[in-house]
Amino acid sequence: MEHYFTNNEQLKSELRDITYTLDDTNFTFISDNGVFSKNKIDYGSKFLVETMLKQINKTHISILDMGCGYGFIGIVLAKKLDSLVTLADVNKRALHLAKENSKVNKVEAHIVESNIYDKISDTFDIIVTNPPIRAGKKVVEGMLLGASSYLKDDGELWCVIRKDQGAKSMVKVLEDNYKTNIVAKSKGFYAIKAEKK
Ligand SMILES: C[S@@+](CC[C@H](N)C(=O)[O-])C[C@H]1O[C@@H](n2cnc3c(N)ncnc32)[C@H](O)[C@@H]1O
Repeated sequence: MEHYFTNNEQLKSELRDITYTLDDTNFTFISDNGVFSKNKIDYGSKFLVETMLKQINKTHISILDMGCGYGFIGIVLAKKLDSLVTLADVNKRALHLAKENSKVNKVEAHIVESNIYDKISDTFDIIVTNPPIRAGKKVVEGMLLGASSYLKDDGELWCVIRKDQGAKSMVKVLEDNYKTNIVAKSKGFYAIKAEKK
């Protein structure tokens, strides 16, 4: 079975544009077959970004979007916070789109093909992820718990998880490792912030 995180170069390309407006800023995202939420911005990703932007008032920070897909979360945050973003994923097609989307939306981005953190060497003010639940617990926990090694001392990990996809048990795992807050809930999605203890 094909998943949105498997690389399938044979999969027919059918590019499409997705638009998104936040306050006075218009974004365009090029999407394609074979990537997560290819036809519309995922509700959870949108909810996470909009929640974060209500809470974060710093600019010129470093952001890592882990499992970036076509780059929605990282690109919107980098644009609105006037910051530099690293966009990381295992899906080559998603990374190609993320690169194009950073140019289209005039955001400075480093694009990194990385299985979780294996090609990440910097530390960041913010690591953000809408984790690939379907990739399994090992990958999801690898992204969430692994983040602490790539966060600055006062850095923040942000993630969105659906209640019916194990948000409550993931909050428990996060609480064992971080100072954890469920910042907002909407339509069964939890927007979670975790800071180093
Ligand atoms: C739920 S999607 C979110 C995509 C994007 N952030 C968004 O909000 O639209 C999760 C992403 O994680 C990526 N992914 C899956 N396994 C991964 C791994 N081992 N390392 C890095 N990224 C991975 C998938 O390719 C997918 O793009």
